[in-house]
Amino acid sequence: MMAPEHSLLMELLDAGNRHNPYPLYARLREQPVPMQGRDGVVVGDYDTCARLMRDTRLGTDRSLVEGETTGRDRLRPPTFLSMNPPDHTRLRGLVSKAFTPKRVAALAPNIQVVVDKLLTRALVKPEFDFAGEIAYTLPLTIISDMLGVPHEDMPKLESWSRAFTMVLDPVVTFRRADDSQLRSIRDARDEFANYFAQKIAERRADPQDDLITRLVQIEERGDTLSELEVMTTCGLLLVAGHETTASLTSNALLALLRHPDQFEALRRDPSLIEGAVEETLRWDPPVQITARTVNEPARIAGHDLPPRAVVLILLAAANRDPAHFERPDDFDITRERVPHLAFAAGIHFCLGAPLARLEAALLLRVFAERVEQPRLIDVEYRSHVNVRGPKRLIIGHSGANRQVDQERNRRAEERGRADASKPGGGAENLAS
Ligand code: HEM
Repeated sequence: MMAPEHSLLMELLDAGNRHNPYPLYARLREQPVPMQGRDGVVVGDYDTCARLMRDTRLGTDRSLVEGETTGRDRLRPPTFLSMNPPDHTRLRGLVSKAFTPKRVAALAPNIQVVVDKLLTRALVKPEFDFAGEIAYTLPLTIISDMLGVPHEDMPKLESWSRAFTMVLDPVVTFRRADDSQLRSIRDARDEFANYFAQKIAERRADPQDDLITRLVQIEERGDTLSELEVMTTCGLLLVAGHETTASLTSNALLALLRHPDQFEALRRDPSLIEGAVEETLRWDPPVQITARTVNEPARIAGHDLPPRAVVLILLAAANRDPAHFERPDDFDITRERVPHLAFAAGIHFCLGAPLARLEAALLLRVFAERVEQPRLIDVEYRSHVNVRGPKRLIIGHSGANRQVDQERNRRAEERGRADASKPGGGAENLAS
């Protein structure tokens, strides 16, 4: 017979519980739960989660979680997300040189142009799908622009990103993917590798002002990234930043529409935008679960675990731990900031956090300014457990705020004229 705690975990993996997993997280947070059928433990209280993500007895080698061997059959070649020191330290150190806060801040004008364009297009209709038409497209466009991938190739990137995101999901890694899922992940991996091998060769021959070129050119004390490392890093940035950021903006809008007083407060006082983004990250985090693997025999959260055992860390449960947050189940964009775990902790802390925060803040601010009387019509969740968020988020509205719109159009035109003189021209090529 299955232990009740284990069936709680199975309930969490059940797609039927995707719309509100929080009561399950609350129960799983009460005490560390041993896994059945494999060595491992599930933890959900804030202190233990925060501590274990900094525990050097644990690592992130996901081939162990995937249950796969190395070599050709591996679903994804390792990225630095799934490496331990010293390999992780070396690769993250090199890549973060191309990803500094200054470089991210410089992306704001392009993000603004893309946001304006996507919203203008959506607002023509009385109802639109915020998730499908805006939330997914924004981060995909921005990462494509950063990498230097043309917009006409975005559908390919999108399909590869969806396939790779599946690899991270416990439904795939714990319940084992079916053959067609595995085939689509492997096809995506091979197509992605061919596409980026070509892009890398092009950039070596003809450098551009983009991230692929920068990754190719990175050099520190004689150390450079190999072709495979450049390729897997492009894949990591695509996967790590796409559905996660899309979920953040959709989760935020959903929370605001379900709490009209908070939405109204934000509309009256746009300086609350950072609070709205942080509160969403805490209250309804895009990455709900992460995993670590045991490097050496260790007693973890009260359980003796052998090497290769899995520790599932419930970030979404930790973010509502009453021992750490006051009124944890209340969504309150004005609350005093207490650190949350939405971007993890320790050496794997999200490299893209400043970019995700910037994209979400710009999109939500413009939405609050421009969209008159928005109302929630329908929401449907993707089946993913860990990168959880709406697949469809249908919003109705009574029109665009004309005054704000005219001023925005004028500024966008000015920016468009300035961008037209640059190669790549910002978001001008967004498929219309
Ligand atoms: C709201 C959006 C995002 C969320 C919630 C998020 C969350 C996370 C989390 C939880 C981790 C750590 C996983 C672990 O320790 O097991 C992580 C790592 C990472 N994220 Fe993000 N992420 C977001 C957006 C982005 C973006 C936009 C990028 C870049 C384009 C990005 C790039 C990365 C990278 C490269 C890592 C690996 C860091 C390492 O292993 O050292 N993320 N992210």
